[in-house]
Amino acid sequence: MRRREAVSSSAIEGTYASIDELFRLKADERSAAPSPDTREVRNYVVALDHGVKRLDELPICLRLMRELHERLMRGVTPAHGGRLAPGEFRQSQNWIGDPSSTVATARFVPPPPNEVMPALDELERYINDLAPPSLPRLVRVALVHYQFETIHPFADGNGRVGRLLIPLMLARIDAHRHPLLFMAPYFERHRDEYIDRMYNASLAGAWRPWLDFFLRGVIEEASDAIGRIRTLNEVLSEFRSRLKNVGAKANTLLMVDRLLEMPYFTIPAIQAAIRVSYPTAKWIAQMLVLVGIAKEVEGSRPRLFVASDIMSVLNRPFEPRSGPG
Ligand SMILES: Nc1ncnc2c1ncn2[C@@H]1O[C@H](COP(=O)(O)OP(=O)(O)O)[C@@H](O)[C@H]1O
Ligand SMILES: [Mg+2]
Repeated sequence: MRRREAVSSSAIEGTYASIDELFRLKADERSAAPSPDTREVRNYVVALDHGVKRLDELPICLRLMRELHERLMRGVTPAHGGRLAPGEFRQSQNWIGDPSSTVATARFVPPPPNEVMPALDELERYINDLAPPSLPRLVRVALVHYQFETIHPFADGNGRVGRLLIPLMLARIDAHRHPLLFMAPYFERHRDEYIDRMYNASLAGAWRPWLDFFLRGVIEEASDAIGRIRTLNEVLSEFRSRLKNVGAKANTLLMVDRLLEMPYFTIPAIQAAIRVSYPTAKWIAQMLVLVGIAKEVEGSRPRLFVASDIMSVLNRPFEPRSGPG
């Protein structure tokens, strides 16, 4: 789910990689030299994981925003020869519009640099002030996202840092450690509407349409996540019964539990994941292939395996649902 989010959030900004590429890279750094786009999307996963870890130590604050930005932009070559300034808030005027626009013709001009810090300070206070009377939490998250994007505090990467903050805010509010609800796939499906509705909130104070749009996305993405998790659970229990039928040992079943995190794996990756010797790991890989859970990726050195049934669920396009359940 985190990788699905990274892929969508980056695609909104024109940076493309697939979930498969990200998992392959995780399984074996050396197998494929990642393209600059893949590296950038991987940074998104790194930033998200970092944010989750930091939630134990920090509130959602400006420092966290800078840390997310720093990880997102690390090692990235700026487009159009600009400056990325990883982890730094901007000190110059920026604007939003098509690439040929100037500050005078831009569609939207965020606040001047000297207003960025005061605006961010207020945003930080708003995020953490949960004293009643307060708006419903999801409404607050929608407003924070709009506000963050409107301040546009970084030279680049604002869309992605703003979207990273959504699952982190939700995870923090609900006191669950793992972010479960991601919005980027929804924003990607409705990219123009996403941007237009934020624009119209600034232009005409059209809050309701922005909130309606955001909350509709929460419903869609929550039910999408539930559907995917259900199917994944079914796939895994079917894997387990296949293995039990052939009398597989506990080690092999242990590996099934790890497949969601590592649907692509090498033999050394099995070794590391469940702490077994190389011969045992090799045996487990063969077993998984034998019962049709995994297959070897042709021509891969070192040998790479993939549990395609899991990848199909992760890659499955969004399916609108008619009703609850
Ligand atoms: N009119 C607008 N008002 C507020 N935010 C906007 C507007 N237009 C675009 N955005 C936000 O700006 C983001 C793009 O900013 P950018 O700094 O290039 O981020 P990234 O590099 O992650 O793309 C969009 O994804 C959207 O969230
Ligand atoms: Mg950009």
